[in-house]
Amino acid sequence: MRYKRLLLVPLVIAIAVVSVYAQPGDAKMKGFVSSLMSRMTLEEKIGQLNLPSAGEFTTGTATNSDIGKNVKEGKVGGLFNIKGVAKIKAIQKVAVEESRMKIPLLFGMDVIHGYETTFPIPLGLSCTWNMQSIEQSARIAATEASADGICWTFSPMVDLTRDPRWGRVSEGNGEDPYLGAQIAKAMVTGYQGNYASNTNIMACVKHFALYGAAEAGRDYNTVDMSHLRMYNDYFPPYKAAVDAGAGSVMASFNVVDGIPATGNRWLLTDVLRKQWGFKGFVVSDYTGINEMIDHGMGDLQAVSALALKAGVDMDMVGEGFLKTLKKSLDEKKITLAEIEAACRSVLEAKYKLGLFADPYKYCNEERAKTEIFTPEHRKIARQVAAESFVLLKNTPAPEGDGILPLKKAGRIALIGPLADAANNMAGTWSVATVQDRSVSVLAGLKEVLGSKGEILYAKGCNLDADPAMEERATLFGKTLNRDSRSPEAMKAEALQIAGNADVIIAAMGESAEMSGESSSRSDLNIPEIQQDLLAALVKTGKPVVLVLFTGRPLTLGWEDKNVPAILNVWFGGSEAGTAIADVLFGDVTPSGKLTMTFPQNVGQVPLYYAHLNTGRPLGEGKWFQKFRSNYLDVSNDPLYPFGYGLSYTSFNYSDLQLSSTSLKGNQTLQASVTLTNKGKYDGAEVVQLYIRDKVGSISRPVKELKGFQKVLLKAGEAKTITFRITPEDLKFYNSRLKYDWETGDFEIMIGGNSRDVKTATVHWER
Ligand code: BGC
Repeated sequence: MRYKRLLLVPLVIAIAVVSVYAQPGDAKMKGFVSSLMSRMTLEEKIGQLNLPSAGEFTTGTATNSDIGKNVKEGKVGGLFNIKGVAKIKAIQKVAVEESRMKIPLLFGMDVIHGYETTFPIPLGLSCTWNMQSIEQSARIAATEASADGICWTFSPMVDLTRDPRWGRVSEGNGEDPYLGAQIAKAMVTGYQGNYASNTNIMACVKHFALYGAAEAGRDYNTVDMSHLRMYNDYFPPYKAAVDAGAGSVMASFNVVDGIPATGNRWLLTDVLRKQWGFKGFVVSDYTGINEMIDHGMGDLQAVSALALKAGVDMDMVGEGFLKTLKKSLDEKKITLAEIEAACRSVLEAKYKLGLFADPYKYCNEERAKTEIFTPEHRKIARQVAAESFVLLKNTPAPEGDGILPLKKAGRIALIGPLADAANNMAGTWSVATVQDRSVSVLAGLKEVLGSKGEILYAKGCNLDADPAMEERATLFGKTLNRDSRSPEAMKAEALQIAGNADVIIAAMGESAEMSGESSSRSDLNIPEIQQDLLAALVKTGKPVVLVLFTGRPLTLGWEDKNVPAILNVWFGGSEAGTAIADVLFGDVTPSGKLTMTFPQNVGQVPLYYAHLNTGRPLGEGKWFQKFRSNYLDVSNDPLYPFGYGLSYTSFNYSDLQLSSTSLKGNQTLQASVTLTNKGKYDGAEVVQLYIRDKVGSISRPVKELKGFQKVLLKAGEAKTITFRITPEDLKFYNSRLKYDWETGDFEIMIGGNSRDVKTATVHWER
């Protein structure tokens, strides 16, 4: 007993010490920063709030002049858009050796889905439904970025999105708050990992808030939504990132309740800091402060003061803080305390990262040589990419199997503008990628097929018939080398090689830059010229597999009807080509599931599974009923529902078993199904749990995702899958924005997608 107590004492002390250090607000850090700030001039304090772009990659006009001089004068808090440890080290040296206060700089970058080893675009990553894979991708991204001088990433982007017209759906995790929250947490953990070593970098959750709800899917456009919808649907992923300890938050470009997020005190202070307890710092988005002038919030001085008062600590690119805060202070439009609070937040971030202890912590040139784009990282990227692909269709061939997987034999025609396009494989927002080092489909197929078969290649058509459109869609060096031959000549060449092949793979869809920032679309079809070619290939009567590149849900009605097999590969990252080959040839069984609904046509948008019911819902299985909520010309159904994705094997769900149908208070309900792999292949299935709150004080969605398990089953194997449900899973924000649950009946649903579920009902009393 005494012995045990003796052991306990040092344990308690150790826990206390660890928790003091783990606490963001720890006294030692506060003391250090206070002492530092007591020696800083007002100009130096304002300088810490300034985040210029070094100008290597920009999304707007970078107006920052002479960065080195400003660093020396203490007018810069951090820098971004600079790649390479030697360059970063050199400028850090200026900051810590030549500026008066010797304060190290933060070095940020958009490390969105990997660094040089690039993972699938986030929308694709989310389709893995594999939190280990997602966290690992962030971990590898952080390892590589930190080896190259970066200590701060502008990721994760967790904007919930229900409008595929918006190009930035590619950067997010789809339409669901619950899944989005799990992913936000995994990403933050992967990047930051408690800042334990020099491989951990600070996360920046963005874009706070509601950026994904831009009207008409047009980027930067107005957002207007009820607080109920904010709290229940759009906020949870940001909150999850904050709860996971994200060190920084980026304000979004859009308005929230009529006030730009960047100047919105309710959002950045009341919600973020007071309600959620956020302790890190807030950075504006790129010129987000200046853009408030165009939003009609005043001149540069006014909008800069507005941003500071709202809770923005760092000004990205715009230099509004640098140029106007002193004047605003003199004119008593802001207070010194407000400037100091912002300065403190930035300095604390540097402290947490360990930059005061060692400003060169992230500047180890040896690491840069050995830890970036390693074979090990690439191997994982290849696995994760394969896991992100979603098999949308696989028509059974006469003998019963689908066309896929392909045999590693014979002649395969590979056709399409994305077939030999290494520089497009990484997808949008991959600033650190060495584009041409990615594996194209052509290279990947050749590598995996080896000498067992033959690949015949033709481009077949350009990305788009309109050269101007193609130019807009292939920026940032991602040219698809527009072919000057006539469409007829290109098509004829493709048909000729198709005629000589046993099977046709069509690598088509969007180019990398057809999604991402400022890449909204009003038409979600595959460009017409590609569809024409696809139709011609299908007409040959040979088996055709569409390997679909896209950064968003597309409208694939024609393809779904006419093309025998469709594998959606998003943009798979640096190992895209080999991963595609792995799946096409069956070395990997596809297991990705959609995280955004695919509509039948653009007119249905926004279309999402967790909708409210309306007072006039359409009857089950019905297309049109007069005076019901529907369209004359299209059913309400999606083309592919949320959670959907096929496998080479098939899974059978037993009926749902509940541990009870009547519960009280804090009891736990167990809901189980037996999942059987009925097919010939081993495969993974994402088993999804949905709940419908049948009666509430506010109208509740027809179903909401509340859990999922990714299960690997060998061919023929069966397993019982159990979900444990507690009242925590029944909670929602009511009309007083109180987070609670209510007595009533609940439908419990389990299935392999949001449409095909087994259902049972329980009654749950408070
Ligand atoms: C984007 C952000 C990005 C920033 C810095 C902006 O245009 O909206 O997502 O982090 O640029 O590159």
